[in-house]
Amino acid sequence: MRSQQDIDYNALVKEDRVHISLYTDSDIFADEMDKIFHRGWVYVGHQGEVPNSRDFRLKRIGLQPVIMVRDQHGKVQLLLNRCRHRGATVCQERQGNTRSFRCMYHGWTYQLNGELSGVPGADAYGDDFKREELGLVKVPRVATYRGFVFGSLSPAGITLEEHLGRAAAELDLFVGLSDADDVEVVSGIHKYNYQGNWKLAAENSMDGYHPAIVHASFAQALVDKIKNGPSPEQPRVDRDFASFRGIAKDLGNGHVMLDYKLRIYDSLNSDPLPEVRAVTPTGQAQIEELSRRFGEQRAANMLREGGTHTFIFPNLILIGIQMRVLQPLSANHTEVCLYPTLLKWLAPEVNTIRLRSHEAFFGSASFGGPDDSEIFERIQDGCAVALEPWQLLSRGLHRERHEDGIIIGDLADEVTQRGIWRQWKRVMLQGAGAAKTARKRTRNLVAGTGKRG
Ligand code: FES
Ligand SMILES: [Fe+2]
Repeated sequence: MRSQQDIDYNALVKEDRVHISLYTDSDIFADEMDKIFHRGWVYVGHQGEVPNSRDFRLKRIGLQPVIMVRDQHGKVQLLLNRCRHRGATVCQERQGNTRSFRCMYHGWTYQLNGELSGVPGADAYGDDFKREELGLVKVPRVATYRGFVFGSLSPAGITLEEHLGRAAAELDLFVGLSDADDVEVVSGIHKYNYQGNWKLAAENSMDGYHPAIVHASFAQALVDKIKNGPSPEQPRVDRDFASFRGIAKDLGNGHVMLDYKLRIYDSLNSDPLPEVRAVTPTGQAQIEELSRRFGEQRAANMLREGGTHTFIFPNLILIGIQMRVLQPLSANHTEVCLYPTLLKWLAPEVNTIRLRSHEAFFGSASFGGPDDSEIFERIQDGCAVALEPWQLLSRGLHRERHEDGIIIGDLADEVTQRGIWRQWKRVMLQGAGAAKTARKRTRNLVAGTGKRG
């Protein structure tokens, strides 16, 4: 294996292009797990996934298995899923409700706050056996913003607020569609994986250039549906396609977005969601009630499919009603989890409309998600071509605008991809000296100080 200090990231990431080895090289993958996922802030889960005391879900931070659990006092804990005896995972169920975690090898049992509470045959240990020092290891830093739970495996670093920066406003908008920070995450998980690098899905999620090509069949089906429907109306075709209006933004720190807020103003000038009236007995009343309580714009957001389209570096995507989480598995294998959310305020019929329209584009037999995954695997395959090993990211570079620290471009410009790579490179270069840190960490672990840095 190459020393990670031998990798010249300045040579591999240019302003207008990146080298294909960044998607394929296992040494680079190991380095980015270390520097990006095992040191920085990583999105782990939403507190709505563990609504009740003793609820848990299995997660990962980078490659490390984590249990997200709401303990008996209502606090969300992030525990590393590894028995302190001989290292087996102590929980294998993907989700559930439990009173404790019991390792199935020799039966050591842990409380929901990680404390070691049970050791079969404990009298076989000497006086130096300190049960209180052998709890499940906690993720060193845990911070929650509006119900979004983030973890960092590094005990030191910038705060979560500093990391989120301008992107915090987009999280506000996502949960702000409900009354409190209580989006409901009870509709199951749509999970898929593809044979390709995790950054392909990050880039694609904020790519305003591809939909008209990759998703052409969706656009055609939409037109056909409206035109062949009971009340064919050109204004509806125009309105739905107006929803593709927007701008690309680099918010800083690798957080980027396609800002479609213009669509909200479109919707205010037309009927925000005729389907609501059509299928909900109380649809008209709900529209009026929501508008009265929250104002027209927020109500229109609720009734349509959400208010933001944002990537939170390095692994969270908010689109429509979904939280999407990227889980790198290896340089060329990635798992993606989609968590559709519900809003308590809405009539069940309206939540159902939101879910169905989400499934139509993102579901496993839908118009959108599967097409994108196919593209990821084509790119990964194309990376085997070694001549001219570059991917271009120059679209719209010459016309980027800078406003209040935000870089802005047309919707189909590659502002967003450049923003992700800029942060990726910054973190990978800041981590120079990683090998030294790793050696120090190993010394600390062997010395038993527990210090990671
Ligand atoms: S490895 Fe867990 S009890 Fe032995
Ligand atoms: Fe797509």
